[in-house]
Amino acid sequence: MLRCPRCGGALEAARFLVRCHACGPYPLLGDVPVLVTDPFGYCAKYRDSILAAMAEHGVADREAVAAVEAFAGDERGTRESFGDDWTKYEATGDDAPAPVKGPGAPPLTKLMQVARADGPAQWLDGKIRKATLALEIGCGAGARSEVLAARVERLLVSDLSLRAVFRARARASRQSAEVMGVVLDAEVLPLKRRCLDLLCAEHVVDLLDEPAAFLEQARGALAKGGRLLVTTPDPSLGAGFDDTLERLATEAKFTVVERRDGLPWLRVNSSRFVEVYLVQALELKAG
Ligand SMILES: C[S@@+](CC[C@H](N)C(=O)[O-])C[C@H]1O[C@@H](n2cnc3c(N)ncnc32)[C@H](O)[C@@H]1O
Ligand SMILES: [Zn+2]
Repeated sequence: MLRCPRCGGALEAARFLVRCHACGPYPLLGDVPVLVTDPFGYCAKYRDSILAAMAEHGVADREAVAAVEAFAGDERGTRESFGDDWTKYEATGDDAPAPVKGPGAPPLTKLMQVARADGPAQWLDGKIRKATLALEIGCGAGARSEVLAARVERLLVSDLSLRAVFRARARASRQSAEVMGVVLDAEVLPLKRRCLDLLCAEHVVDLLDEPAAFLEQARGALAKGGRLLVTTPDPSLGAGFDDTLERLATEAKFTVVERRDGLPWLRVNSSRFVEVYLVQALELKAG
């Protein structure tokens, strides 16, 4: 179901590559294809993060490193790190610590309970049902990937960060689904048209330059009746109106099945540092 992100053509796999006959090669790193429109630019920009992630996951042998170097080229332009922003508790799935004792502890403890019972994660978990093929966009450290992989037959975990894909793939692979990882940009989905039953995008749409492009692409990749589950702490998408995401979804010809708002999402960094977001969640159906 994976396709060339530039022409939509079929891909052939080789040792450290997948290749489109018309457009050329894409890297295949630790069995994860990097299907972005400019694979050379991606490798040049993220070279150090790519190599570090490969070393962390035990796939940085000499030939694999040479493949990354070949794509990255000699240019010493601006290097960037992946946008991996998970907390250590999100990374491990371990319970987050309670807030330090003091006047802030009781309300925060209460809010943590509400977030566990009625937060965006619970909303998503309640909406993830059996599917033949599901795609998760912006998988991050992979908490949702694990839930998806317990309920669907085949799961594609994806992110712009190779490290996130490695982590999420490892977590999801403990479950029953056949799991595959892919690096992609949510705005250019390298997928066969109409191949997905379920697409999950948790807290990522607000980070995109062109959320409308993502919604168009998602609509094209979903089969008739397929569902897009999307949550975001910024449904205004920087535009100042809380109905922006819903309006863009309708313009992309999705039907809104459900909208929830104000769902508390708490990111516990430590017992003294907790980020609180109020999230909007949309269940969208492709016609
Ligand atoms: C705030 S994190 C959310 C991670 C996870 N879904 C969660 O809710 O904990 C956003 C994720 O989206 C990824 N991301 C950002 N821009 C992206 C893009 N254009 N295409 C695909 N993934 C992207 C980041 O690398 C990051 O892993
Ligand atoms: Zn192509």
